[in-house]
Amino acid sequence: MDRDTPAGANNLDAYWMPFSANQAFKADPRFLASARGMHYTTADGRQVLDAIAGLWCVNAGHCREPIVAAIRRQAGELDYATSFQVAHPIAFEMAARLAALAPGDLNRVFFSNSGSEAVDTALKIALAYHRLRGEGSRTRLIGRERGYHGVGFGGISVGGIVNNRKMFGTLLAGVDHLPATHSLEHNAFSRGQPAWGAHLADDLERIVALHDASTIAAVIVEPMAGSAGVLVPPKGYLERLRAICDRHGILLIFDEVITGFGRLGAAFAAERFGVLPDLMTTAKGITSGTVPMGATFVRQHLYDTFMAGAPTGGIELFHGYTYSGHPLACAAGLATLDLYHDEGLFERAAMLEPHWQDAVHGLKGRPHVIDIRNLGLTAGIEMAARPGAPGARGAEVFRRCFDGGVLVRFTGDTIALSPSLIIEKPQIDRIVEMLAGAIQATA
Ligand SMILES: Cc1ncc(COP(=O)(O)O)c(C=O)c1O
Repeated sequence: MDRDTPAGANNLDAYWMPFSANQAFKADPRFLASARGMHYTTADGRQVLDAIAGLWCVNAGHCREPIVAAIRRQAGELDYATSFQVAHPIAFEMAARLAALAPGDLNRVFFSNSGSEAVDTALKIALAYHRLRGEGSRTRLIGRERGYHGVGFGGISVGGIVNNRKMFGTLLAGVDHLPATHSLEHNAFSRGQPAWGAHLADDLERIVALHDASTIAAVIVEPMAGSAGVLVPPKGYLERLRAICDRHGILLIFDEVITGFGRLGAAFAAERFGVLPDLMTTAKGITSGTVPMGATFVRQHLYDTFMAGAPTGGIELFHGYTYSGHPLACAAGLATLDLYHDEGLFERAAMLEPHWQDAVHGLKGRPHVIDIRNLGLTAGIEMAARPGAPGARGAEVFRRCFDGGVLVRFTGDTIALSPSLIIEKPQIDRIVEMLAGAIQATA
């Protein structure tokens, strides 16, 4: 047993860890035992500054007392109730609060348990909506290269990360992909939104010309791609996508699983960019990562189409999860929304953005750094791959930072950062300092 392995975790065999190098981890495990605010405590008692808000989700910081108390209270009062044909009030309260927070008339909310399920829900609603309107030929879904929409078959089909797709055979039929928006050649070291690349949205016109609009149901994109390494939308890109979708009767879905709940200094990316999608998927920050929850927001006329389309007294959408609107998730969500509001955390993210931007761009000129990207409280620091060993440099920097007391994330050779919105400026500086040292020390 490794000296770091805590009691209770003395057999590492059974747990098949997600998106992890299981064998490497089990040979050299790293355990997080507790958390508070901006820090984890490891099993051997070290403090680790969390530079990624758990996994882009703990936007209010770890173990916040009002959220913890709300979950405790709810667990003792109503642990579970189905939402199929009966309901509990707190789910309606949560949906109403979310509707009030969302831009435009994205005021109908379908609950699930994760981002992947929120995406599946959105894709299914889009397909069913067209069918209800008598346009059942609109079955094609358009995603984007390098997009990440979770790991369900719907999500990996419209997603564009090859490792997440190539092992799983035939995915959904009738899917096409827009080109990725990032270009090292044209956009490297942009601060905020790059000036180059809006024209890449016009590729949707090519896809429409190829397949005909009458076969296309929806386009799904992350307004800012997170998992592929923080790919910031070029100025004007999302606006163009919206205009082309409108021209051809195609629904536009924003996957805001990462960008929702303050990550970009506004409640949603849709608000920051002033572009209203027809559907919006969320999860993660909705409960500040405390209890799993996903939510798919739908514009009112879509919901109304379903209500009008069903026989009187009949079920309007044959879709839902045992844990849709789970009481614990709703309680956690309401307490989280209160905290975001009471502490002005979305505004705080916006206020910190200039300092954050300057700090991360201070890494320019370090060895191997070929790009730095940022928006809101996110950043991607891309390093050149080591010849013949893509990802090795990223893994090494991750490990050096962890050993030095800062948790970052790596995707290939890109380091991704997305701290909780409660972060203080000296903590931002510490993250960047740690990274500078780790990058410098990495061959
Ligand atoms: C944009 C986006 N969509 C969907 C997902 C999937 O969410 P989950 O892991 O909760 O299923 C993620 C997760 O990172 C995401 O970033």
